[in-house]
Amino acid sequence: MLTRMALFRLITRALLLLYIALPAAARAGAGADGVKETVSFHTQIWPIIQARCAGCHQPAAPGGKLILTGYASLLKGGEHGPTLTKKRPDASPLMDYLTGKRELMPKGGPTLASAEIELFRKWIAQGAADDTPVVKDPIDANHPPVYTAPPVITALAYAPDGHTLAVSGYREILLQRADGSGLTARLIGQAQKILSLAYSSDGKLLAAAGGSPAQFGEIQFWDTATNKPVNSVQITGDTLFGGSFSPDGKQFGFGCADNSVRVITVPDGRQVMRLDNHSDWVFATTFSMDGKNILSVSRDQAIKLTLIEGASFIDDINTHYTPLRCLVRNPKADQVLCVGDDGIPRLYKIFRTEARTMNQEDHNLIRAYDRQNGVGTALAFSPDGTLFAVGAETGLVNLYRVADGGHVATLSGQKGVIYALAFHPDGKQVVAAGFDGLVRLYEVPTGRLLKAFAPVPLATHAPPKHSPPAALSTRK
Ligand code: HEC
Repeated sequence: MLTRMALFRLITRALLLLYIALPAAARAGAGADGVKETVSFHTQIWPIIQARCAGCHQPAAPGGKLILTGYASLLKGGEHGPTLTKKRPDASPLMDYLTGKRELMPKGGPTLASAEIELFRKWIAQGAADDTPVVKDPIDANHPPVYTAPPVITALAYAPDGHTLAVSGYREILLQRADGSGLTARLIGQAQKILSLAYSSDGKLLAAAGGSPAQFGEIQFWDTATNKPVNSVQITGDTLFGGSFSPDGKQFGFGCADNSVRVITVPDGRQVMRLDNHSDWVFATTFSMDGKNILSVSRDQAIKLTLIEGASFIDDINTHYTPLRCLVRNPKADQVLCVGDDGIPRLYKIFRTEARTMNQEDHNLIRAYDRQNGVGTALAFSPDGTLFAVGAETGLVNLYRVADGGHVATLSGQKGVIYALAFHPDGKQVVAAGFDGLVRLYEVPTGRLLKAFAPVPLATHAPPKHSPPAALSTRK
């Protein structure tokens, strides 16, 4: 007779053997302890998706318009709508893709292991719950980013009343007193990068366009009276560029890395226009004086003029010479100034007065200015439209007269690329910033340096865990 102890040993051994014999994935489905039956999205489903699916379902190039970045995106589905019905694997298109009843996924095969497919089936049957742990964002209004070096500055804007200068930071907008005497507020958002800043003409709203590379684009609208967010619009899977307000402040235009130009309503963010006429990234936008048209420049070398109503593309107003990065409108006239890789600022009439010809004549060109000593990376018009500043990759900023191209001053001291320039509303001061992370204020028209300062408090001790990634804070 077997003793009770021996019987117990026999049974445990048999169970252990059975356990080893089971395929790993099926075992995981039963739970490593053999008791837990619930399939976990986070530990069992998501790793399979990351390994076998995510490569072809990224924001940049989503197969079937399906983006697999997490639970919500999986459920949302792609071109053909939601991928699953909770509790009903038999009614879930996802199962048909995995089993090859529809176009087999992973596309081109090999199929998932049958135990893995079984995990999907079970997870859906159990209700397709999301057990992804919620990671608390370490950066928020009460926990601002900590810097060990000034961050690269990519955007600047003066408030119309002339009191405040908005400066881009890592995940935040830094509001400075316009004379450089101190930081007054930090507006912290989601986007890692703020690539352009603009105030509405009545000064009531501050808008930022940017995003987190290869994740999302974001437009933020802030109430300048309270420094509180009014709205955040996340749009496209990559950063947004060159934001501009319509003259009446009711619309906001910007360029995208998906080559589109878009216009949304302010501040609710409803898309009112999308133009897909550019063939490369769109870096800057500006509105015509009447607000009816938007102009955009791209690496594709074109300045495109589009009627916003009906997204009706009108014309390339320029002859294509070079990839373009910057575009600003003369505050007092329907003229735009652009600059790009060849370093030559060019001023154009927005509206054609002569018919287009076949022989590439640059009819709308009013004037081409001095070639800068490198790629043109920043532009600004003085408020009265008589002067402009142009910044280059090599760190030099030059001031010119619009009317005759006369050189007014050279603003020196910057080390590295100039990404942003802005004139004070009184026209007596111009600010420049970029790669070296310092904000420099210059007197107009002399070009004398008035002040240079870091726009952020710098940590002197070892930074706490939630400081920005080293690459962003220490300048590559
Ligand atoms: C080799 C690239 C590739 C891989 C890997 C891949 N897919 Fe796809 N997937 C596509 C493409 C492309 C489409 C668009 C339809 C087509 O071309 O067949 C698509 C379409 C889909 C659709 C339909 C979306 C819709 O609404 O039309 C689903 C669902 C899907 N894939 C799920 C998956 C899952 C789940 C995996 C991993 C098990 C996976 N895919 C792996 C390329 C891929």
